[in-house]
Amino acid sequence: MAAEIKSRIITALDVDELEKAKKLVKLLKDDVAAFKIGKQLFTRCGPDAVKMIHDEGGRVFLDLKFHDIPTTVAKASLEVMRLGVFMFNMHALGGLDMMKKAVCEVKEKALGKGEKKPIILAVTVLTSQGPEDLKRLGINMGMEDLVVRLASLSKEAGVDGVVASPKEIKAIRKSCGNIFTIVTPGIRPASSSKDDQKRIMTPLEAVDAGADYIVVGRPITQAEDPLSAAQSINKELH
Ligand code: C5P
Repeated sequence: MAAEIKSRIITALDVDELEKAKKLVKLLKDDVAAFKIGKQLFTRCGPDAVKMIHDEGGRVFLDLKFHDIPTTVAKASLEVMRLGVFMFNMHALGGLDMMKKAVCEVKEKALGKGEKKPIILAVTVLTSQGPEDLKRLGINMGMEDLVVRLASLSKEAGVDGVVASPKEIKAIRKSCGNIFTIVTPGIRPASSSKDDQKRIMTPLEAVDAGADYIVVGRPITQAEDPLSAAQSINKELH
């Protein structure tokens, strides 16, 4: 993990209004690595949500999970780059050519403009999908094998890392090495409610397994005191 990063937490801003997001950003910006904007907030507020976080001095993980033909994803990735985000992602299931084209065009543009390239991540298999879902899709491969295969394909395409379930971190590390960013959701401090997450790990377990960043939403955003919830996770990880 980069030396300047003071926290491994990426806080998911799963809210429907810019003002709600802004309150959280003001409160947490010095104690988290980045804020995750997903489809809900982006569809509602668009690039204004990204700008708000930047204006407040925070960094953005734009979690829009692109999956389309290579040219479309590459063009969308260039637009994401213009927003100046810290990281964004696409589905590895979009294939090698899709990921490669996006990575190449973003790198080329960053080089030409002398700008820092965002961290590009690939989503392997959504944690909401189980072995039965794979069978229904006609995929006759075990879950872990598929995840590792997609992570390796992402690496081959030049993607910087993956978003993966905590349970898959070790296998991905083993196959993709240490210079590969792993971001993991499904994190619950021992004292938190599981909400609708099924396969969870504590922050420390996930980092011990090899995660670079942990995505933590509700245990922070819905805590009575979000700042102290974030600070106590940072403390656990130091
Ligand atoms: O509130 P909670 O900590 O469960 O939020 C986790 C965040 O990570 C949510 O924004 C959720 O959509 C996202 N996520 C996830 N599992 C995945 C991919 C993304 O929980 N496999």
